[in-house]
Amino acid sequence: MRVLVTGGAGYIGSHTLLELMAQGHEVCVYDSYVNANPKVLDRVRSLSNGKLGDVTGDVRDAAGLDAVFSDFEPEAVIHFAGLKAVGESEERPLAYYDVNVGGTLTLLHAMDRAGCRKIIFSSSATVYGEPVYLPYDEAHPTAPLSVYGRTKLMAEQILADWSKQAGDRAAVLLRYFNPVGAHHSGEIGEDPSDIPNNLVPYIAQVAIGKRPALQVFGTDYDTPDGTGLRDYIHVVDLARAHVAALGYAAGNAGCQPFNIGTGQSVSVRQMVAAFERACGAPIPTRTAPRRAGDIAAMQADPSRAKAAFGWRAEHSLDEMMASTWRWQSQNPDGYGNG
Ligand code: NAD
Ligand code: WQD
Repeated sequence: MRVLVTGGAGYIGSHTLLELMAQGHEVCVYDSYVNANPKVLDRVRSLSNGKLGDVTGDVRDAAGLDAVFSDFEPEAVIHFAGLKAVGESEERPLAYYDVNVGGTLTLLHAMDRAGCRKIIFSSSATVYGEPVYLPYDEAHPTAPLSVYGRTKLMAEQILADWSKQAGDRAAVLLRYFNPVGAHHSGEIGEDPSDIPNNLVPYIAQVAIGKRPALQVFGTDYDTPDGTGLRDYIHVVDLARAHVAALGYAAGNAGCQPFNIGTGQSVSVRQMVAAFERACGAPIPTRTAPRRAGDIAAMQADPSRAKAAFGWRAEHSLDEMMASTWRWQSQNPDGYGNG
């Protein structure tokens, strides 16, 4: 298929480009580079030896979108473009609504004008909020705890209403759990532009000597070792979920959410131990108070994605950490010196 990938130069998008191209899809990236380095596309091209289109543009720019729809004529869109920092979303709520909700609306209008009826959307497990039960299935109530989470839920609701119109519109909502890891080559990976907000990039920067120690946020949770539990998923597995979802969207109409996780939960302490195995050195840690807005435990029931489009996670925790370490040690400054 011809697939337009908004936000395709970002962390998850760049890994998805490789999986799409490996399956023979024709791909064009549409990205503003607000949180990405254009060098990533050179790396993707050399890893894939494939033809990859790219257009610099903003998802809120209707004319820019019309131009790419008219030139590339995509049959489907994978919509990664968005702002994703939970803390920042509380400080700049309107910016988050503008990009994540407004950008999605502008994109859907452009799709309608071009007659493009299939979209895969980057949603998040954060739409569930405080667990009523675990693992979360897709029927779990949604009550996001942050502005960021509300932008994702609103975009989901817009996509659901859009898909109900006449025709064979399909919106596949992928609710990612905690994406980590890097491509096995170590050539592409997560490249935070500032102090990392997330656990694994932070640990990686401690391991490379950029930061003195990891702060463990909360050691008094009601979990086996007192630290937070999350369902971490290898970014390559996540990327493959998009390719599988594309096939599903092509053959179906309507809107469905799917959890994309492993079904396992791992504690902060277990993550640190796994990273120490990968890098062969101790990771200094300090205990710190709970981080505002964090919940004790999250875990996916990923069975719906398996039943609908045959996807399941295949990479182990050690592979997540080994690939992160390969990326971080080969690229201590991310794409900065690439
Ligand atoms: P990322 O920041 O690396 O990628 C997002 C990409 O979108 C970047 O390349 C950025 O330049 C681009 N972008 C941002 N605003 C844009 C705009 N207005 N117009 C065009 N391009 C724009 O983030 P990621 O981790 O790859 O996440 C991709 C998507 O998945 C996001 O929508 C994010 O909310 C969602 N998501 C991420 C996680 C996670 O933990 N990484 C978890 C759940 C959901
Ligand atoms: C994981 C665990 C922390 C950093 C976030 C977003 C979510 C989704 C994925 C986009 C928690 C602990 C972390 C540190 C720590 N993103 N931790 N020290 O918060 O589960 O999810 O990213 O959709 O919406 O909220 O991920 O990696 O920040 O934290 O102890 O320096 O690691 O308390 O238990 P989180 P995370």
